Amino acid sequence: MKKSQRIINRYLSLSQAARLVGIKRRTLQKRIQDGDILTFEGMVSLEELLKAYPQTEIEDNTMIEHSQHIKHAAYNKLLRDGNSVPDTDVLSTRVTALCQELSETRSVAKKYVEIVEQLAQRLAKIKTSEPEFDALKLWLKQATEAQRSDAQASAQLLANDTLLRLMTAHVRILPSGHDFFVEGTSSLLEAGLRAGLALNYACSNGNCGKCKARLISGDIKQTQTHDFMLSDEQKATGEFLMCCNAAISDVVLETVEASNTRDIPEQQISAKVKKIEFRSNVALLHLKTPRTKRLRFFAGQYVTLGDGQTIPSTELSISSCPCDDMNLHFQIPGIEHNAFAQHVFQSLKPGDAIDIVGPRGEFVLDENSVRSLVFIAWHTGFAPIKSLIEHAMALDDAEHIHLFWITAKPSDRYMDNLCRAWQDALDNFHYHTIDADLLSDDTETHQPVLDTICDTLEHLADYDFYIAGRETLISSCANMAQQRGVPNTQLIGDTIKHE
Ligand code: FES
Repeated sequence: MKKSQRIINRYLSLSQAARLVGIKRRTLQKRIQDGDILTFEGMVSLEELLKAYPQTEIEDNTMIEHSQHIKHAAYNKLLRDGNSVPDTDVLSTRVTALCQELSETRSVAKKYVEIVEQLAQRLAKIKTSEPEFDALKLWLKQATEAQRSDAQASAQLLANDTLLRLMTAHVRILPSGHDFFVEGTSSLLEAGLRAGLALNYACSNGNCGKCKARLISGDIKQTQTHDFMLSDEQKATGEFLMCCNAAISDVVLETVEASNTRDIPEQQISAKVKKIEFRSNVALLHLKTPRTKRLRFFAGQYVTLGDGQTIPSTELSISSCPCDDMNLHFQIPGIEHNAFAQHVFQSLKPGDAIDIVGPRGEFVLDENSVRSLVFIAWHTGFAPIKSLIEHAMALDDAEHIHLFWITAKPSDRYMDNLCRAWQDALDNFHYHTIDADLLSDDTETHQPVLDTICDTLEHLADYDFYIAGRETLISSCANMAQQRGVPNTQLIGDTIKHE
């Protein structure tokens, strides 16, 4: 594409375009697949975007960061800890780049206007009675007038786009093609993890060198010194540490990402108890890892907690999101015959050390799927489901997310307020509660659950199903799905670890 063309008609990645008009990337992808929106080399022009979403410019600017705001507000994971505004160096570099682009755009636009005016004058001087020639003159006149009336809408969208580019940098990762935005002074690693990417790293602190990446294009800035030494050769080929650098401009990087659970090694970490809350006979255990030794995991996985000596050991699903790798959450039902549960309910206190070994398990999101998501949790099966939902929110990609939380009685839904907050804040999140006593494992008791799910979802085959509960519930859901034509590959179950 010629530079003048790029300047006049800015092209956006799908993530940038979706964010600008406040929709899901998947929704935009669908419209592209349906032929509603044309793309060029996988990019969308502002002009095409405006044609597809003509109302966009009318909305106020809060829509620009719509998905970010509601996502953060919803699960109270405000990672905007005062560093959401870029520092002055970054801002001045971006303002300079934008000024340069503006002056180039103005100059190119001025030339085009002159050419069009000259063309109109020259056409007016030609004497001919050819009807095609008159049609051409009329078309030029109408197209010029239409362009003027469209200018206001385009200007608003361009202004929104410029503001976004000033406040955030767009990062594209090769070879995966994943992309994300960096806000404020966040490091590239922090921003990538927050966006739900499984980037390679270990210490987050410049010691291990595992977060190495190669800069393909754009500008970065070192924000933190590091002990890990990069050789001169590595530096010469653009290698740098993502945990110690921020993006100044939009960048393209080459780096390693985990593509499946085998890519993440087993880790052993000694964490500290930060807080224990008790709700409806369930303990919500919050652990904090050392800053330099965080747990890398996929949402939905589990770990072993305790050393089996000072603290009885058990396997437990992590209920928090991998995007907040220092703060690990677990949900433990108060079961009398379980030594770990008794220890948590009776002896464990803030400040105590507790060993973590893991992660393990294959109950993870299929990130290649474009289908909407259905999560079904029985009681504390909500733990891995919560992790998956928070990860899906970080990815911000699913068109619809349905959560069915089944408990014997309403008061057993120990995080009901959180689910309601998600529903209030997120347009695409739907929360359904089901009261059913499934403790007996009697499959007859599953029928009201299955009926509610079928009544709620029109075409079951349009969804991926994630079920965390007892084996019998998973089997009942699998039978229901099979009867309604849902392929096995669209259903994954996780048996409750701790009951
Ligand atoms: S994660 Fe260890 S150096 Fe960046």
